[in-house]
Amino acid sequence: MTEEEKSPLEAPQKQRRPYASAALLVIITAFIITISTGAIAYAVQGLTEAEPDEGVLVNGVREFRITAQQWYYGPGLLKADPGETVKFIVTSADITHGFAINELGFNLSLSSTAVKHEVVIPSDIPDGIYTMYCSIFCGIGHPYMKGGLIVGTPGVGLGKILPYVATVVMVGIFGVFIVKGRRGAR
Ligand code: CUA
Repeated sequence: MTEEEKSPLEAPQKQRRPYASAALLVIITAFIITISTGAIAYAVQGLTEAEPDEGVLVNGVREFRITAQQWYYGPGLLKADPGETVKFIVTSADITHGFAINELGFNLSLSSTAVKHEVVIPSDIPDGIYTMYCSIFCGIGHPYMKGGLIVGTPGVGLGKILPYVATVVMVGIFGVFIVKGRRGAR
């Protein structure tokens, strides 16, 4: 194998390389699908997260009714206070999903029958937005199936900005990749 064949993207192309361009096309398509799925997931979450759901107080317990579906939770943003007992009543509208919040130590498996889970939010937990996420693979949007439980009154933290930063970085890498790929094809 010559040096040129080892790096077909960087080496100047003297012959036609149908395999390289086919592989490039597959990779680019995969990137586009990944990014657009992520964008759609964030957009849908953005719509549902305009106002946090504060649930309903029933005998001192804060109850949240949540529906899970590909690939978001409705409501996707909840709000409670430290020290409160909260009850999640969660149903899946389509296939099997998970529902987990690491900081509260639970991980549920969802189906079309409502799953109920009661948990006490520790009174000394720091104010913040705790991620609730799907823990069971459910298709291409699975990694983006997330929501948040606001506890107390957090400021604008890094956690809120980070997903957007990550998206911008990914798009940037994608752009560089396309430019490099085009130069290589010339
Ligand atoms: Cu829903 Cu994974």
